[in-house]
Parts: sequence; structure tokens; C-alpha cells
Amino acid sequence: MRFLEGHSPTHDLTYDDVYLLPSRSAVESRFDVDLSTVDGTGATIPIVVANMTAVAGRRMAETVARRGGIVILPQDVDPSAVADITAWVKSRHLVWDTPLVLTAGDAVADAMNLVGKRSHGAVAVVDDDGRPLGIVTEAACADVDRFARLSEVLERLVLTVPLDTPPREVYEQLHQRGEKLALGVDDNGRLAGVLTQVGALRSGIYTPAVDDNGRLRIGAAIGINGDVAAKAEAVLEAGVDVLVVDTAHGHQEKMLAALKAVRSVSPSVPVVAGNVVTAEGTRDLIEAGADIVKVGVGPGAMCTTRMMTGVGRPQLSAVIDCAAAARELGKHVWADGGIRHPRDVALALAAGASAAMVGSWFAGTYESPGDLRYDEHGRPYKESFGMASKRAVTARTRSDSAYERARKSLFEEGISSSRMALDPQSPSVEDLLDSITAGVRSACTYAGAATLEQFHERAVLGVQSPAGFAEGRPLPTGW
Ligand code: XMP
Repeated sequence: MRFLEGHSPTHDLTYDDVYLLPSRSAVESRFDVDLSTVDGTGATIPIVVANMTAVAGRRMAETVARRGGIVILPQDVDPSAVADITAWVKSRHLVWDTPLVLTAGDAVADAMNLVGKRSHGAVAVVDDDGRPLGIVTEAACADVDRFARLSEVLERLVLTVPLDTPPREVYEQLHQRGEKLALGVDDNGRLAGVLTQVGALRSGIYTPAVDDNGRLRIGAAIGINGDVAAKAEAVLEAGVDVLVVDTAHGHQEKMLAALKAVRSVSPSVPVVAGNVVTAEGTRDLIEAGADIVKVGVGPGAMCTTRMMTGVGRPQLSAVIDCAAAARELGKHVWADGGIRHPRDVALALAAGASAAMVGSWFAGTYESPGDLRYDEHGRPYKESFGMASKRAVTARTRSDSAYERARKSLFEEGISSSRMALDPQSPSVEDLLDSITAGVRSACTYAGAATLEQFHERAVLGVQSPAGFAEGRPLPTGW
């Protein structure tokens, strides 16, 4: 990566301060761009979902890994729950999505309670042996008494095919029938998955992130307090593929000791550590055992660190410096926080990150763990909150005395409750992944890069004014 002649920065910059210059390209199609990461995590797209309670749970993990990214479970999740979630995620099908399942005798209210957990808006209905009878859609339930049985609103003639049917064939059959969703059955005719038209299409575009046994990948975070070796051991025994050692100020002695403890437990698992924003911090963490360093202090949507302390660094410059330091040692960085548009991911990768970590943007999707709520105008949203907020600190310290909890929650550096709108045009994290990967693929073709490493090598950045950034925004709809 280089800056355009005359644009070398005289001060630190963030994503909005820069643009990518198009250059001569021999890459003809966006489909010719390989988005696989080279940082050893096995991700086939450069997206990691942040270890935030409002964002990363089992449903997010299955969905994102199926599209090639990795989800990091938060450090507040008990190791036994990490083990359950990991086993569940690793038992998921690589193409077919996990269905919501009810029986014909269940009530419409049961279906309505469940349906908000899927962007495709349907629940599968099975008989007592688990064989599919059809589906119930949100639309079919809209004007029906909540106590009515599902047998009354059941759509029976749904495309039902064996699980090994090629996704393209499923797509074509659905397209011909003008239907949105197919049911997949196992060798015994039992319901084993659902596949939408767009899901079938996506499985021809994305490559799932899988471990050596062909099962979906997942990561988990631990903190730096207490018996770090024991915590690392418990989480690794749970079967996670990536371990993140996480604290707000990563460049501290306790982190270096924590990394050494983690390495004593497993010399081989990919270890991510952070957060830092300096080359020195990056080098120290790598020397202590990190394979990947997490970069970002204060850019996150739920962070109040910079306003509380004045500490932090504009994110693009932090990523450029830290990535250069890591690369000199043959290691990598993740750009963590402040990703609000696909362009931010492209810029983070151009700056040298192997992946971008996304939190709050993904909180407002069907796959985040929170409940779907509606604001006073009937618009859907989910709540996000920072991991250093009073809300998260209070939950994390639940085994402490009331006095101790109250004392610790005085030092919050995060927002406790923020509404993340669920965009009706892109309500699923998969819609957001489509738009991010489309943007990054396209950025690579503009730069003449067929891989993310080539993209980093070839990218040319220019510095722009706020007016330059504003010019790039489309007119608001309804103008
Ligand atoms: P986004 O912008 O994607 O950023 O939501 C995700 C990252 O933000 C960090 N994070 C916090 N930082 N106080 C902070 O100062 C907090 O309460 C907080 N919660 C999350 C974290 O690095 C995450 O990956």
C-alpha cells in the first residue's frame, strides 16, 4: 500500500479521511477475486464477528461460518456453554440452514414467537417422526387467531428434496415454481434443513470456513484476569478453532503474561491478542506468542474510551502501522471496530489487515442473539451494548458482592443500550456479508488485485476532505 504522491499523511487518519485510487487492472471479473485470508484462521472471507454479547451467539456463528467468516464468542460465556455452542455449530450442514421446527398441533402463537429468528420468515412443520408436512409463513399467520393450530395455515406443497441435491438444482426448481424456500430431508425422509433461493445462490459463491474435519469453524475469547491457562485449556477443550485473548488495553504486562500462559497450553492454535494501536504494542504481543494482533482503541460504535480518557488513535493509521510491524515478523492484524460501510473493510484490508472485525453493525440483524423489538413508529431494531458498558460489567461480575459490582461498574467505557435498526432491505447478516464482499471484490478489481495480498501490495490511497467524503454518499432516497 502507498499513499498517492503528495498525499503522505502529516497526521493520523481514519477510514473517512481516505479513498482508493483506481489503477490499471488485468482482473476482469469480481468472481476472479479470491477473498481467502492468509492469517491461519481458515476464513475464506476477511470478516470476523466481534466477541460482543449483543452480536456473537450460535446462530450468528453458524450463519457467518457457512459463508466463510468466523465468529468469536464473548469472554463472558461460560466454558461449558462454549462447548455446547461449538458442538452445535460443528454439527451444522455446510449448505442447508438450520430450520425452525414445530408440529401441526402447535399454535400460530408458537410460530409467531419463533419466526423472528429467521430472515426467511417461515417455520417448518413436521409429523411425529420428524417428516416434513410443509411450512408456515409469517404472512399466512398475519390475520389468524393466535390460538389457531398450524394445521389450519400450513402450506403443504413445498419443494422437498434430498440434502445432497446440488444447490443449483434447488435454485432452479424453486425459481421455476416461484417459491422462496425448499425443505431438505435425510436418508430417512426426516427434515434436516431449509434452503432459500438466495441461500442456494450464495452456496455457489461462498466457501464455508471449515476445520480439518470439514466442520464449520468458530472462535472464542478469554480475558487476562485469573487463571488464564485454565481458561484457555477449558475453551480449547470445547473445540474452538481460534482463541482470542482480549482486553481494552492490550499493551500491558498482564497481557504478555497471559499470552505466555496460553502458549504453554497450546503452541499451535491460532492466538489473537489485543487491543493495541502502536507498532511497539504489536511487536510485544507477537513476541509473547500472538499470531494475530487485534488493532483498535476507541473506534467501536459502542466505545466511549476516547471521550472518557482521550486515549486511542484514528483507526486507519493504527492499522497501517500495526500491520506493517506484524508483517515484518510474518504475522497479521485484524482491524477491530469502526466498520460501518463495505468501503471501511476494503480500506482496512488495503492498509494491511488480514480481516476486519465487525460488531454493532451486525447487531441489527436476525442472527444476533438479541430479541427483535419495534420502536414507536413500528420499525424493527435490536439492542447493542459495549462490552465495557455498565450493563456488560454488571453481568460479568455477577458472582461478586453487590458492593464490588457497583464499584466496578463505575468505571464503564461503553454504551449500555443503543438501538441498531434492522434494515428491511438487508435484515440478515448474510445480506450485509453480500454487500461487504461485493464491495471488497470490486475494490480489488479496481486495484488490479486477484487476492487480498495483492490488494494490499497494489492499493494506492489518497487523502480527502470531508467534502470529498460527502460527495461519495448517494442522495438520500425520496430526494
Ligand atoms: P464496532 O464498531 O464494530 O466495534 O461495534 C467492535 C469493537 O468495539 C470494541 N468494544 C468496545 N470498546 N468500550 C470500548 O471502548 C466498549 O464497551 C466496547 N465494546 C466493544 C471491541 O474491540 C469490539 O470488537
